[in-house]
Amino acid sequence: MDAAQSKVPDFDEARARLVIARLAHLDGALLPILHELQHEFGYVDARNVPLLAEALNISRADVHGTISFYHDFKSAPQGRHVLKICRAEACQSMGCESLVTHLAQAHKLAPGETTGDKALSVETVYCLGNCALSPAAMLDDELIGRLDADRLDQIVLDATGMRS
Ligand code: FES
Repeated sequence: MDAAQSKVPDFDEARARLVIARLAHLDGALLPILHELQHEFGYVDARNVPLLAEALNISRADVHGTISFYHDFKSAPQGRHVLKICRAEACQSMGCESLVTHLAQAHKLAPGETTGDKALSVETVYCLGNCALSPAAMLDDELIGRLDADRLDQIVLDATGMRS
């Protein structure tokens, strides 16, 4: 499967400016605006950074730092399915890193990436509250315990095949 980072779509600057203008009056406006941009576009395009800096009279570095700090803000559109792999302590002790390596080697898909057909995005999370069944993951809203390479292969196949 060809898994590459999603192509960045055309940026609708006028629409982004409207979102920013609508919320710029709020105290601590940056976070609400970022959430709204992600809600509107599905991700926070890097081209929002100078617009936000100008509108809120803060540095581009501050805007970029905030976006980077909160892992919920996506820098590219997500796939139709999202697989979150837990890489916290309990899951590490049960081999989650070898699953991440397997995903990269067998499917050319690393955390933070989306398949070329936009079927599946993979993310890292830190504890899903499912430590007793580690290594754990979450596919869309479904919690998965005792994840192994075979299940991982099946998830990728299902997401990029008929059920996507
Ligand atoms: S450490 Fe992975 S679910 Fe808690």
